[in-house]
Amino acid sequence: MIGSMRPIIVAGNWKMHTTPADAGELARTIAARTRVDGVIRVLCPPFVCLAAVRDAVSGPDAAAPDGSGVAVGAQDVHHEAAGAFTGAISAPMLAGLATWTIVGHSERRRDACETDELIGRKLLAARAAGLRTILCVGEQLAEREAGRASDVVDRQLRGCLAAADPVAINAGDAAAFAIAYEPVWAIGTGRNARGADAAEMAAAIRQTLAALGFPNGGADVPVLYGGSVASSNIDEFMAEPSIDGALVGGASLKPDEMAAIVARAGLTAAARAGAGA
Ligand code: PGA
Repeated sequence: MIGSMRPIIVAGNWKMHTTPADAGELARTIAARTRVDGVIRVLCPPFVCLAAVRDAVSGPDAAAPDGSGVAVGAQDVHHEAAGAFTGAISAPMLAGLATWTIVGHSERRRDACETDELIGRKLLAARAAGLRTILCVGEQLAEREAGRASDVVDRQLRGCLAAADPVAINAGDAAAFAIAYEPVWAIGTGRNARGADAAEMAAAIRQTLAALGFPNGGADVPVLYGGSVASSNIDEFMAEPSIDGALVGGASLKPDEMAAIVARAGLTAAARAGAGA
């Protein structure tokens, strides 16, 4: 598959913000202001807001001119389908609520001590339940400064994907499995990677995928950038042919920001569609 065939994805990770009382209105506003052809839009609110967001984006106002809608995603899933796991939410429980999930976010790695092996099990559980899945990877500042960023991400990918079937993981659905490169030092800090550095990491990620046996040297897998993405810096990421969109945190709670970010992603989608035609 050539690069232009990969979907362009802008996913908003609302983290621990919004309530069932206000999430629907925010989602409705963002959906209405991001109606752009060629961009898959995903909103990932807290679990308790999934139903409100689903209901808010199910109307025609949320649809883009090309008929595509806003998808709803979870921020995490448990690695088992059911069982004695107090407080946990499994992938099958999300049926009817969400069609996407994030796994391996650095805040979960940090706060819930999630290991690559556990994240790999979450990924498999999510895909088994039919959820499109965004796997997050990224290095710490000290690791980047030591010149080890790509080694760290390589190790994370190998750990997370050890049990995954590289052929089946996105067979028949180009958006089923995406990777978000999120340098930890750029998350929530207002400090973003440079577009060229993110592109270099996207290339390194695909090298690892190729080594793991992914078809086409990993070229089928969308790679998103995440880490202080905003309207002021989205350009430099979307200008990179190896980057296929963004995982947006803080700015995804701001309709103006999301409107500008998705609009910019739409330009890339149109350019790639033109190049591929
Ligand atoms: P940020 O978060 O955009 O607020 O840096 C990104 C993320 O954590 O996915």
